[in-house]
Amino acid sequence: EKGGYDSFMEKEINEQPKAVEDTLLGRTDAEGRLTLDELRIDPEELKKTSKIIVLACGTAAYAGLVAKYAIEHWTRIPVEVELAHEFRYRDPIIDESTLVVSISQSGETMDTLMAVRYAKEQGARTLSICNTNGSTIPRESDAVLYLHAGPEIAVASTKAFLAMIAASYLLGLYLAQLRGQLFQEEIKDILADLHKIPGAIQEILDGAESIKALARSMKDTPSVLFLGRHVGYPVALEGALKLKELAYIHAEGFAAGELKHGPIALIEQDQPVFVVVPSPHGRNSLHSKVVSNIQEVRARGAKTITVAEAGDQSVGEFSETVFYVPSTAPLLMPLLTTVPLQIFACALAAEKGYDVDQPRNLAKSVTVE
Ligand code: M6R
Repeated sequence: EKGGYDSFMEKEINEQPKAVEDTLLGRTDAEGRLTLDELRIDPEELKKTSKIIVLACGTAAYAGLVAKYAIEHWTRIPVEVELAHEFRYRDPIIDESTLVVSISQSGETMDTLMAVRYAKEQGARTLSICNTNGSTIPRESDAVLYLHAGPEIAVASTKAFLAMIAASYLLGLYLAQLRGQLFQEEIKDILADLHKIPGAIQEILDGAESIKALARSMKDTPSVLFLGRHVGYPVALEGALKLKELAYIHAEGFAAGELKHGPIALIEQDQPVFVVVPSPHGRNSLHSKVVSNIQEVRARGAKTITVAEAGDQSVGEFSETVFYVPSTAPLLMPLLTTVPLQIFACALAAEKGYDVDQPRNLAKSVTVE
């Protein structure tokens, strides 16, 4: 049932090319226009969306954070991302032009469900991005976009995370299409880039051995830090969460720009620091900023492990180890840069002899508040 892998987690990491492919499948017409008919929400209603609030917990919330960058960029609709359990206890500003997008693999997470109910009571339209057909959250939402990533058994979410990003990108592009915010050609180009992602993930999986070897060598590490900026920031958070929940190692993700506002004090000799490096082809100076951040921690003794785009020559001299991911559009990078971090956490936990599918104290779906 584990398909020859040692754990469901490893199997699911390896299923990611297919999971992303299946999320993208059948969602465009012959002319390359997005057709999210299954959404069950009147496109005219959706068009009027003035604000999006994304609600989720854990890894799903990190997918939401990634999506915020893309959706705002493509649609110019403001996007807030909030942990579902925090949202419920404030007095949010919501009306019928607010689209509340919940993201959940299981569709049964109580915190997320209660937040969706609350948003509905306040008059919001609710849309569920979910992996589990017929589960409670999509049933109670006005609209649903299923991931079609296949069942996820391991407690640690992997393929659902990538599928959530892909699905929320489709939603963003669909909204941009409805509102005429992007040219159809631009949407086509982005979709074409998305369709190349499964093959690129496969390349990373084929090169997994070097990541696993690094993980094995770091078995006794007491703490690992993760840095990222822009879409790389939620990837850093996700890398840290995977390590906490699987390997029981203290791990923290930071926005690299925050370093000098405090966290840099943590850096001492041999402190491992993963850095998610943005694409060097982005339009702003983000890439060089991150390269400076790598130099800053390295100068203070950090052992820097970088995840960078193939062909990026600038990080090698400041990195103990570099993992290259295939080149893609800057906004799509999280679909690739996450993968080495998942492999790393899984391999490190396995090396420590832990049950990677059933980490201590955790449940696959958290159906209590
Ligand atoms: O089923 P959901 O996506 O709603 O679950 C949300 C979180 O509980 C979940 O992502 C959790 O953080 C995972 N264990 C992370 O690997």
